[in-house]
Amino acid sequence: MDKLIAKNITVSYEGANIIEDISIELNKGEIVCLLGVSGVGKTTLFNVISGLLNPDEGIVELDGRNITGKAGNVSYMLQKDMLMPYKTIIDNVSLPLVIRGEKKSKARDITAKYFQEFGLEGTEKKYPFQLSGGMRQRAALLRTYLFSDQVALLDEPFSALDSITKSVMHEWYLQVMKQIRLSTLLITHDIDEAIILSDRIYVMAGKPGRIKEEVIIDEPKPRDKDFKVSESFIKYKRHILSILM
Ligand SMILES: Nc1ncnc2c1ncn2[C@@H]1O[C@H](COP(=O)(O)OP(=O)(O)OP(=O)(O)O)[C@@H](O)[C@H]1O
Ligand SMILES: [Mg+2]
Repeated sequence: MDKLIAKNITVSYEGANIIEDISIELNKGEIVCLLGVSGVGKTTLFNVISGLLNPDEGIVELDGRNITGKAGNVSYMLQKDMLMPYKTIIDNVSLPLVIRGEKKSKARDITAKYFQEFGLEGTEKKYPFQLSGGMRQRAALLRTYLFSDQVALLDEPFSALDSITKSVMHEWYLQVMKQIRLSTLLITHDIDEAIILSDRIYVMAGKPGRIKEEVIIDEPKPRDKDFKVSESFIKYKRHILSILM
């Protein structure tokens, strides 16, 4: 994919607008965050972009094609993405290939090749409950990637993790993204996470939810723990807080 665009999206429930006139875009290889408080309409916007929800107004385009209301063009990791508890990790992760018509054994073979890169080696035959939260998230991310290696929507992929595991995951994630260059839209309400991961951040606020500002994070990647305590980091954070509060 080269470009994903959502233009002038408005969604209402029971006559009241939830999100209003939202326009965002994602270019090839970018990580772009959607940042905003709980209830501002982030997941609603993702439901529109993924084609699960038809907006009241606006359109979604992928490489110039109108995909509004059409599912299956982008991969989507749901906010409560959960692996199926009764399936092994390899069967959970290889599901996208099986859905696409691959034989189970072939799907497992293809999937197994990614396990090392995603830090999952040795977990193939385990069940989700036997893995740590961070490992489960990596498995869910690999499954999302196998749905589409072009565009991914990730709804709060790291929010269930403790802050140390989260930091480790951020560094890991930026490394992997350097390799696979998956164009990614990511939802978070964690300001630090948005600054560390993003090329650009759309800050959402208000009722109905709107894009208040687009913040460009012009810093080299990967960004490590030194960046998190740097002056430029604090400057971005102060600016974003001033938009949100
Ligand atoms: N199917 C629905 N019917 C009516 N209202 C809904 C529906 N889905 C969401 N809403 C409302 O829309 C608003 C935005 O919800 P949404 O889930 O998009 O927020 P969010 O920004 O993702 O929040 P969170 O960070 O808590 O996940 C909320 O007020 C929610 O109650
Ligand atoms: Mg949400």
